[in-house]
Amino acid sequence: MIIAKNIHKHYDNLEVLKGVDIEIKKGEIVSIVGASGAGKTTLLQILGTLDFPDKNSDTLLEINGENLLNLNDKKMSRFRNHHLGFIFQFHQLLPEFTALENVCIPAFIYGKEKNEAEAEAKKLLEYLGLKDRMEHKPSQLSGGEQQRVAVARALINKPLVIFADEPSGNLDTHSAENLHQLFFKLRDEFNQTFVIVTHNEELANMADRKLTMIDGLIKNE
Ligand SMILES: Nc1ncnc2c1ncn2[C@@H]1O[C@H](COP(=O)(O)OP(=O)(O)OP(=O)(O)O)[C@@H](O)[C@H]1O
Ligand SMILES: [Mg+2]
Repeated sequence: MIIAKNIHKHYDNLEVLKGVDIEIKKGEIVSIVGASGAGKTTLLQILGTLDFPDKNSDTLLEINGENLLNLNDKKMSRFRNHHLGFIFQFHQLLPEFTALENVCIPAFIYGKEKNEAEAEAKKLLEYLGLKDRMEHKPSQLSGGEQQRVAVARALINKPLVIFADEPSGNLDTHSAENLHQLFFKLRDEFNQTFVIVTHNEELANMADRKLTMIDGLIKNE
């Protein structure tokens, strides 16, 4: 599903990624762990096309058979909207919109009709146990509820891959466990692929494969 080869990234003189190679199969749940500053977020953002690697003739990023580094901005955004979902540590919901509206936004960008988007969003929110909280704004929801809204938003366009960066970093133990179980349930039901950066040992160890980043490289498995 994901093939990345020779990913380098410099920020000025600082070499943050030093030639990362990674291959992830469809339906696989992979966790990425490592010390703060090792380059985990940078790698995730590059794999998710939210950032670019250094230009390098033998660098490759392929998702679902599409060679992404050759795409122009418009095609890249479209690919991201259609096929990739993101869950961040700070859910990044839009405060002025309700839970339901937040979940619908990627579907509107996709070009879905309002009715269709809302029906799909409601289904997801119900599935995530938020049936009675749909019309609330993020500030009126608990941290765990907000994170589940963010999960629904990440899922609405049925992405092939979900990238999560510290998804449970701000949740209490119980909410974190529920969220982690949800990832596995989603994978079992929809065969989605997950790439999860986490400092949570338990989540990292639940994954099919745990990768460790050390100083800009993935340690040999
Ligand atoms: N936009 C940027 N400009 C300059 N340096 C950056 C930028 N983004 C990240 N860095 C640096 O790159 C290195 C890797 O950062 P990154 O966010 O990928 O680490 P991380 O492994 O996700 O760490 P953490 O576990 O703390 O989130 C750090 O030294 C960081 O300071
Ligand atoms: Mg990080």
